[in-house]
Amino acid sequence: METSTAPSQNGRRGRLACVGLGMTLGSHLAPLARSHIEQADVVFAALSDGIVEMWLQRMHPDVRSLQPYYREGKSRMRTYRQWVEVMMAEVRAGKTVCGVFYGHPGVFAWSPHEAIRVARAEGYEAHMEPGISAEDCLYADLGIDPGRFGCQHFEASQLLLYERRIDPAGYLVLWQVGLVGDLSLKRFATGATHRQVLVDLLSRDYPLEHELIVYRCATLPIQRPQIRRLALRDLPHVPLAAEETVVLPPAIPLQPNLAMRERLQALGEHREQPLEDAVPTR
Ligand SMILES: C[S@@+](CC[C@H](N)C(=O)[O-])C[C@H]1O[C@@H](n2cnc3c(N)ncnc32)[C@H](O)[C@@H]1O
Repeated sequence: METSTAPSQNGRRGRLACVGLGMTLGSHLAPLARSHIEQADVVFAALSDGIVEMWLQRMHPDVRSLQPYYREGKSRMRTYRQWVEVMMAEVRAGKTVCGVFYGHPGVFAWSPHEAIRVARAEGYEAHMEPGISAEDCLYADLGIDPGRFGCQHFEASQLLLYERRIDPAGYLVLWQVGLVGDLSLKRFATGATHRQVLVDLLSRDYPLEHELIVYRCATLPIQRPQIRRLALRDLPHVPLAAEETVVLPPAIPLQPNLAMRERLQALGEHREQPLEDAVPTR
């Protein structure tokens, strides 16, 4: 628990909770997140669609959408800073503020982390309440256990902009592929030429015929998860929505680390099963 040194307004000290609504309307909201929403003075919302926002409005009389801050041609970074500022303005005014974000508020989401950091730095109590993210849904819908072969997650543009080490023996999950390579941060989508750059990078570690999965989990209870399988080479040429995530399954078998096996054997460890199954995951 933080020691609050922040000034109080009208005898009340502001506080902030950033909570996740989960991915699917109605079924993913956890009791603690709901309680933060219901007990807030003001609720700010960055959600996946208008229907979800209408559903949230039934839970609280003062829900303020953060969506109107987005504008074509305006830097997303500027938008996200404004989100932090509008939430913090109410915290500084002594309000109990709840920021509601779709999925998990701390997964591929800058503003909730930043708002909590700023609030704490100014002496306010601030808390993040996790939610069910696209990652959680992906494991369930695609039948992937990240513990089986390991799993790397990258923001697609970051993978292009920095030297990273891809491990094709594990799963590779790429986020925000729909706007890969947008250096301006001002666009909501990029196209085939940008995605071709990503394919060229991935082709260093994967054959072009390697099958990848384009995944979209259900955001409304009437929807089914959308799962498309295609060859890596075709990624630039298919429609890809901003809310889709790309998964590359392993392309090569796990390589035994003989030196480490020997060291463990020297410690008296002996295995009867193949080492690939050595770390049981329940
Ligand atoms: C800004 S991040 C937000 C992630 C969110 N905080 C979460 O917990 O999943 C946006 C990215 O999340 C993924 N995403 C969002 N909605 C999705 C959906 N319905 N199905 C699959 N992935 C989704 C996509 O990779 C998208 O580009």
